[in-house]
Amino acid sequence: AFEVQLASSGDIIEIPADRTVLDVLMERDVDVPFSCEEGVCGTCAVRLLEGEPDHRDVFMTEAEHAANEEFAPCCSRAKSKRLVLDI
Ligand code: FES
Repeated sequence: AFEVQLASSGDIIEIPADRTVLDVLMERDVDVPFSCEEGVCGTCAVRLLEGEPDHRDVFMTEAEHAANEEFAPCCSRAKSKRLVLDI
């Protein structure tokens, strides 16, 4: 498990190993647009402010993954304990 922090509210949300960030955010009524939920379309991309993601999407290039500026909550996870997202 890891946690995400929402920059707007400061809320810290635990993401269990068997759920996606998108799932948990939706359950909490955090509005993130999405479409494929498979890491393909890029609709769900959010700006990453802090933390080291474990990118699982395929819409970003390797260079974009390395830059760690965006994060796909429908599929990607975290290598660090916490990610801070610009939502
Ligand atoms: Fe398509 Fe996340 S919803 S990449």
